[in-house]
Amino acid sequence: MNISDSEVAVSILKKNNYSFTDNPERADVILVNTCSVRENAEVRVRGRLNAFKPLKKKKPKLIVGVIGCMAERMKETLFKEEAVVNMIAGPDAYRNLPGLLEKAVNTADAIDTDLSDHETYSDIIPHRTGNKLSAFISIMRGCNNYCSYCIVPYVRGKERSRDYRSIIREVEHLVDQGYSEVVLLGQNVNSYYWRDKEIVSFTRLLEMVAEVSPDLRVRFTTSHPKDMPDETLEVIAKYDNICKHIHLPLQSGSTRILDMMNRKYSREMYVDRVRAIREIVPGCGLTTDVFTGFCSETAEDHQQTLSLMEWAEYDFAYMFKYSERPGTYAAKYLKDDVPEKVKIQRLEEIIRLQKMLSEESNKRDINKTFEVLVEGRSKKSENQLSGRTSNNKVVVFPKQDYNPGDIIKVKITDYTSATLIGH
Ligand code: 5AD
Ligand code: SF4
Repeated sequence: MNISDSEVAVSILKKNNYSFTDNPERADVILVNTCSVRENAEVRVRGRLNAFKPLKKKKPKLIVGVIGCMAERMKETLFKEEAVVNMIAGPDAYRNLPGLLEKAVNTADAIDTDLSDHETYSDIIPHRTGNKLSAFISIMRGCNNYCSYCIVPYVRGKERSRDYRSIIREVEHLVDQGYSEVVLLGQNVNSYYWRDKEIVSFTRLLEMVAEVSPDLRVRFTTSHPKDMPDETLEVIAKYDNICKHIHLPLQSGSTRILDMMNRKYSREMYVDRVRAIREIVPGCGLTTDVFTGFCSETAEDHQQTLSLMEWAEYDFAYMFKYSERPGTYAAKYLKDDVPEKVKIQRLEEIIRLQKMLSEESNKRDINKTFEVLVEGRSKKSENQLSGRTSNNKVVVFPKQDYNPGDIIKVKITDYTSATLIGH
């Protein structure tokens, strides 16, 4: 999400005659795009800002701006707490970046943290700096779900969907430029909903994107389990070019904790959706987010998380421990009462289990053959390439004459917990 937002911010600045460098020594303006979802993310931002202090001493006119969620959450207090900062822009204020920078040069500190209920940056073509193979396309912004632990609705504003016509135009443009894959992005893509003369749901949008070109791989993230009807799964199954991978955040396996989290589903409802995925989209990759140590979580609740993870046989998981975020329902009304030591110990158990599940999942792929989109050189060896299967596993294989962008068949011969190995 942040990569995608940075691409929008850079594009807006380029239109206003700024040029882009990724070398801080050469820059007159440094923008730090930020995440507030856990405290740790913010700690890292502060570390990064600190590292810019010597640069600012050398070059007093240097502008250091903080953009995104932490800017939105902290507003002008950031000027006080981080003296190096002289510009602040929230996630809906990127169109105002040129104006803010001008203000920061000429007068004083500049700030815009207004949230919008309609901004989707639909007309901005992002400045993509990645591998020219895979492009992020933001299809909606904000979130209305108010999970009790989550800062997102406060810092990214109300949920709004982007005009489907501008999404399709962007996809067509990417195909013309030779891109092989698009990733549709949103906090909860499944609740995408466009309505003017026509109504376009996420399921319909997915179909329209898939139909732009049969050679274009289509991915999407993130899906809320409460909004994953069978019709969406049927469309995923129907189109070969829609990747068979669903990221379905679980958060906790205990219905009592899910209630307290305001997730709007129970353990049973989640199990029902995984069963539907397994039935309608056979071989579908399944990944999740889970975090431990939420308010009042008992050893029994924790066991329920472990047992659900084991049952679901996730291929991969992002795993965290609960971090109380100021202003959320949980921060106001629930007690962050699981001791840090217990959170760490439970998280370690979750990580250990998932490592085993990932290994088992990879082991099941031995001797299978997958279509792989070649992405580039493998991290470990010049003679190896790496790519991704439709169900989102990373595969490493001998280079031979293959090139990034090729779609090739790879037979799996070996694995680690993180990677498939084949030829
Ligand atoms: N503490 C820990 N993890 C969190 N997440 C969201 N808010 C918090 C929090 N306060 C996790 C959830 C979500 C992912 C993006 O971050 O698992 O799906
Ligand atoms: Fe946060 Fe819940 Fe919205 Fe996801 S669905 S962004 S966890 S409030």
